[in-house]
Amino acid sequence: MRGSGRILAAVLGLATVVAATACAAEGDAPRDVEVFTWWAEGGEKAGLDGLVAQFQANCGQYTFVNGAIAGGAGANAKQVLAARLAQSEPPDTFQAHAGLELTDYMNAGQLEDLSAEYAEWGLTSAFPKGLIDNLTVNGRIYSVPANIHRANMLWGNTKVLASAGITSNATTLDGFFADLEKLKAKGATPLALGRAWTQLMLFEAVLISDLGADAFTGLWDGTTRWDSAGVDKAIADYQKLLTYTNKDRDTFDWTDAEKLLVDGKAGYQLMGDWEAADLDAKKFTDYSYSVFPGNTGVYQWLADSFVLPVGARNPEGTKCWLKTVGSAEGQQAFNTRKGSIPARTDAVASDYPAYQQAAIADWKTLKQAPSCAHGAACSQGYQAALDAAIGQFSADGNVAAFKAALITAAGRFAK
Ligand code: GAL
Repeated sequence: MRGSGRILAAVLGLATVVAATACAAEGDAPRDVEVFTWWAEGGEKAGLDGLVAQFQANCGQYTFVNGAIAGGAGANAKQVLAARLAQSEPPDTFQAHAGLELTDYMNAGQLEDLSAEYAEWGLTSAFPKGLIDNLTVNGRIYSVPANIHRANMLWGNTKVLASAGITSNATTLDGFFADLEKLKAKGATPLALGRAWTQLMLFEAVLISDLGADAFTGLWDGTTRWDSAGVDKAIADYQKLLTYTNKDRDTFDWTDAEKLLVDGKAGYQLMGDWEAADLDAKKFTDYSYSVFPGNTGVYQWLADSFVLPVGARNPEGTKCWLKTVGSAEGQQAFNTRKGSIPARTDAVASDYPAYQQAAIADWKTLKQAPSCAHGAACSQGYQAALDAAIGQFSADGNVAAFKAALITAAGRFAK
């Protein structure tokens, strides 16, 4: 049985046990609240732990049950979740990205409407209007956002960079290529990279550099064509970037690529700002961060949110979790440890580590562009098609086939 199949079988087995336990206690109000995420270690788990501590303080009548399945960006978790939803065995709550990823679950009728809770908990005015718009479908709102993450960030090992004579981070792709060349000459892996979804993140950042934020955003609703000179340039730049990455990238999760950086084997890595929290959790301090070269002025965003699935065993317990997620204390407990910034507008920046203080300021002033790799810009079908196309391109380097796959995916999924 392959890895994800084993995980699926194990979790479905676990679900049966949990269901049996719930039946044994029939008649009693359920206590357990199973929270399904992919935050299983490092800074991601630290963030979840912060939220759990707040949940335990607020909702002592309920018991947190950790349904996390490891694997960056939900690589394994989403398959298990899809199977459980198909079998009407949902967890009590699961994480879903604000934007089109969430819309998929809404359209499938898998989520309960939380509009009444928004009014009761005062959430409508607590979050920025743009985010509320992203979460709202036909006047109803189906999830509570926990944070805002930034995707288009470049992380560096300052010692490795200094040894190659790099003392400041490039602001253009040309400058970046020159620095990657210097790192290569020193024998370091210039740019650490992982498998498909991390490659899609890198490609998205290159698209932003070559197209600008508005045309990039248009790729997702079909107003920007994939068969254009700008996209051709981005594919060429991306292909050139791949030549500076580790050859075993297709076997790596983002944390494996991050390890190359931490171990002093790589100079740079493009990754979302969960890397800030993870490097801090790993007590690694010799790192720099800057926006990806050519992305200056653009905040590529994504937001984790939690939902109440139709058929959840413990809806009241889930509501207590969701209320905690949306509260000022919950957002602080989570985001100070997760690398993200609070989705609420009333957060006090000085409560946060230095990276997030800068991010809180940037979020208010920079141009916003959504992430497809993390569900804000594109549906799960579109994302899966692009993950497959970019993974194939990593293996065969066939530009014509890659471009054709991008155009086909857009034809099917852009809207
Ligand atoms: C994203 C998620 C982030 C972080 C990342 C890496 O999809 O929104 O919170 O967990 O994956 O696993």
